[in-house]
Amino acid sequence: MIKREQMKIVHHEQIAKNIYAITLTGYLVEEMNEPGQFVHVKVTSQADPLLRRPLSLCRIDQGARECTLIYRKEGIGTTLLSEKRPGETVDVLGPLGNGFPLDAVEKGQRALLVGGGIGVPPLYELAKRLVEKDVVVTSVLGFQTKEVVFYEREFAEFGETYIATVDGSHGTKGFVTDVIHERAISFDVLYACGPKPMLKALEQAFPHKDVYLSLEERMGCGIGACFACVCRVPGSETAYKKVCCDGPVFKAGEVVL
Ligand code: FES
Repeated sequence: MIKREQMKIVHHEQIAKNIYAITLTGYLVEEMNEPGQFVHVKVTSQADPLLRRPLSLCRIDQGARECTLIYRKEGIGTTLLSEKRPGETVDVLGPLGNGFPLDAVEKGQRALLVGGGIGVPPLYELAKRLVEKDVVVTSVLGFQTKEVVFYEREFAEFGETYIATVDGSHGTKGFVTDVIHERAISFDVLYACGPKPMLKALEQAFPHKDVYLSLEERMGCGIGACFACVCRVPGSETAYKKVCCDGPVFKAGEVVL
């Protein structure tokens, strides 16, 4: 059963240009078990379900019953959300989808986490869980430019962290794949979240590795009912998977990017 709650905002701040971190409290946090899952947040009282926004879980603190979501202000929904203050509530549906498999990597092995832009947040909780499991974590985070970089220090607490910016204003100039190749980063399992071209490049660069990709697909309902998020399955003209409920995390090769 999908759960829904009016969660209370305990903290809300801008952390980079047009990037906001919002911390919510509520009983729903008890249901949030997998890094990589998302919630569907509605910020207006209007009934239109399309006014919900899928936001991935960045931090889950079940002890404090708090979770943090990071989002980019870019449309009407996220602009309205950015104006909300601590003490106010937001309507949250979730947690939704299937997250990153933690058991794909064993204690002492190396995990490479690769995030692009607003795909970075779900990797934070993943990094935390992997380090708790004694997995060696390396993170490579890609952004357009310096002013939209966030969570560099936070990821560095979990292991080696490299930044790439397209314009070279911070870290390596270029893409996440440039950093991985230049530094010859070795790993047993790769987990990534970000735009499709980045995921595709990673899938092609490491065809023989264990690679898990979280898709930032355009979503409507978030619960499998509207078909806004479908992806084709390789080798079939008719088979498809829904990002919202079959994903958002898929093993590389499971869907056509
Ligand atoms: Fe509606 Fe996936 S978002 S089916």
